[in-house]
Amino acid sequence: MATDFKRWAKDRQARIETFLESRLPAVDHVPERLHNAMRYSVLGGGKRVRPLLAFAAGELAKADTKRVIVTAASVELIHAYSLVHDDMPCMDDDVLRRGKSTCHIEFDEATALLTGDSLQTLAFELLAEKCLADSPETQLIMIAQLARASGSRGMAGGQAFDLASVGKTLSLPELEFMHIHKTGALIRAAVMLGARCSNHLDEAQLERLDHFAKCVGLAFQVVDDLLDAEATTETLGKTAGKDADNNKPTYVSILGIGQARELAERLQHDADQVLDSFGDSAIRLRQVTDFIVKRKF
Ligand code: IPE
Ligand code: IPE
Ligand code: MG
Ligand code: MG
Ligand code: MG
Repeated sequence: MATDFKRWAKDRQARIETFLESRLPAVDHVPERLHNAMRYSVLGGGKRVRPLLAFAAGELAKADTKRVIVTAASVELIHAYSLVHDDMPCMDDDVLRRGKSTCHIEFDEATALLTGDSLQTLAFELLAEKCLADSPETQLIMIAQLARASGSRGMAGGQAFDLASVGKTLSLPELEFMHIHKTGALIRAAVMLGARCSNHLDEAQLERLDHFAKCVGLAFQVVDDLLDAEATTETLGKTAGKDADNNKPTYVSILGIGQARELAERLQHDADQVLDSFGDSAIRLRQVTDFIVKRKF
């Protein structure tokens, strides 16, 4: 089963890479420096967890892969943009990402800013240009869902909360609020957009899937906090120990390693339980969740 998942994931990762490669502007298109930075920040790295979730949800919903791949790419583009900005000196001030220099180090700060902007708009261009759902109304819901998940009531809002929390001790509900927004919102969008590419699931099923995605989104950031404290820069491909250095409140700083790990496992258990009603068709979602919680990088 483990090898089967590895093969499945590798195949989806390769497909998303090829698709992104084909849709990012070529480096010889003006402005070359910006296009070069966009490709540098998106291609050839990253676990592609959000696309894997979109594919897994799409398979659960028996959606057309050609549609799902576009939604997977659009969420990954927003994610890549969020990383470029997250690493900038005005935010986490990081020099290493996905084993390479961060965008503002390899290029410059203005280019990093514009790279983020351009990746974000490319995501919405992809989502709006072709039919991706069984009705135009559903596709509008998908576009609005990604916009909301990215903005001040989603990822960007979570990032603002993160920056405002430096040096503070947050309560558990505050920490949960921060993580649900800065990371959970996009993970949720990945799952829901993948599922909405077909009308196979009814509203009650979509609601259950959303509940599943909330658990996974939070688990994802709990594990990110754990890895920041426990793993090495070499395995992570980004600077380890950065949260403590930047004085960020995290699940590790508030609960300690042991309890943070227990929380991640509990969230996986909750996520799995929500999937019970889907039976075997949820196997890929279970496997991606397991990968998220057990990953080493
Ligand atoms: C890192 O995300 C940033 C967070 C939202 C915690 P990932 O761990 O998915 O980063 P990549 O895409 O694999 O590099
Ligand atoms: C970043 O969280 C979340 C987003 C980019 C939205 P972190 O700041 O913890 O991510 P890493 O650890 O730098 O990847
Ligand atoms: Mg950050
Ligand atoms: Mg960071
Ligand atoms: Mg982190």
